[in-house]
Amino acid sequence: MDFEGRTSIVTGGARGIGRGIALELAHRGSNVVIADMDEESARVVVAEIKAGGTQSYYCETDVTQQWSTDAMVEVALEEFGQLDVLVNNAGVGGAAGFKTREIPDVDDWQATFDVNVYGIVNGTQSVENYMVDRGYGKVVNIASIAGRSGRSAFPSYAASKAAAINVSQAWAFKLAPHGINVNAVCPGLIWTPLWQNIAEWRQATNDQNTGLTPRQIFQRTVSELVPLGREQTPEDVGKAVAFLASDRARSITGQALNVDGGIQMN
Ligand SMILES: NC(=O)c1ccc[n+]([C@@H]2O[C@H](COP(=O)([O-])OP(=O)(O)OC[C@H]3O[C@@H](n4cnc5c(N)ncnc54)[C@H](O)[C@@H]3O)[C@@H](O)[C@H]2O)c1
Repeated sequence: MDFEGRTSIVTGGARGIGRGIALELAHRGSNVVIADMDEESARVVVAEIKAGGTQSYYCETDVTQQWSTDAMVEVALEEFGQLDVLVNNAGVGGAAGFKTREIPDVDDWQATFDVNVYGIVNGTQSVENYMVDRGYGKVVNIASIAGRSGRSAFPSYAASKAAAINVSQAWAFKLAPHGINVNAVCPGLIWTPLWQNIAEWRQATNDQNTGLTPRQIFQRTVSELVPLGREQTPEDVGKAVAFLASDRARSITGQALNVDGGIQMN
């Protein structure tokens, strides 16, 4: 129970990978604030965590707004009295309706950078003064293997994730003298609503996918790309985040850890 008595915030924790991270941290003893815009799903995760024996709280949060992430941190401190871990997980593949476009439009570029990059910056800026005063804190940012190199398909998403890795390194440098670790995790292929949207986009834009369901397109991608031969899960990402957020990783900062079955070996 390496998180007993600790408090974590997970942005985008209402479903998918964020839910997996929140449940793993709770399983290891942490109280968890679910910071999301999807109240209905978030309340289900809050109930799951409470049923497991730790405390949880839903905080309506839009990570694209600094005032909102400031409020998120205030709420966590009011509810639980301390804050140890921030997981900046909220992310989007594009703007609403991106799966119908062959190439990203200006709204997709804006949305991916607003949520996937500024969301991390806002969350970290909201928490850093508190963590610096305390001389302790762990920040884990969810990037993607898509951020490891340029992509011709949906370059807006890939570029935002490259920026997420770079921003993690910037804050790792900045906060290292204060005993704060900042790392990134790069998930591979995980069947969540986000990947379902990508599969639907591939179904609509690539003739090779005619006749395949989105789930079949995803499974074919897994079998083509993953050396370990299996899709990754929210629990897989949760375990990696829990390690980086724990004191077992106290000498690790500024790293980006691939959780991708070996797709990307760097
Ligand atoms: N699914 C994958 O295969 C995969 C792979 C690599 C990286 N990722 C990254 O993992 C993270 C989680 O992805 P997922 O697949 O679980 O996605 P998802 O779409 O299932 O869940 C994203 C969550 O973020 C929340 N969210 C979106 N915008 C927000 C905002 N402005 N403020 C607060 N919350 C917001 C949503 O309400 C949702 O609960 C994202 O950063 C994503 O880019 C996913």
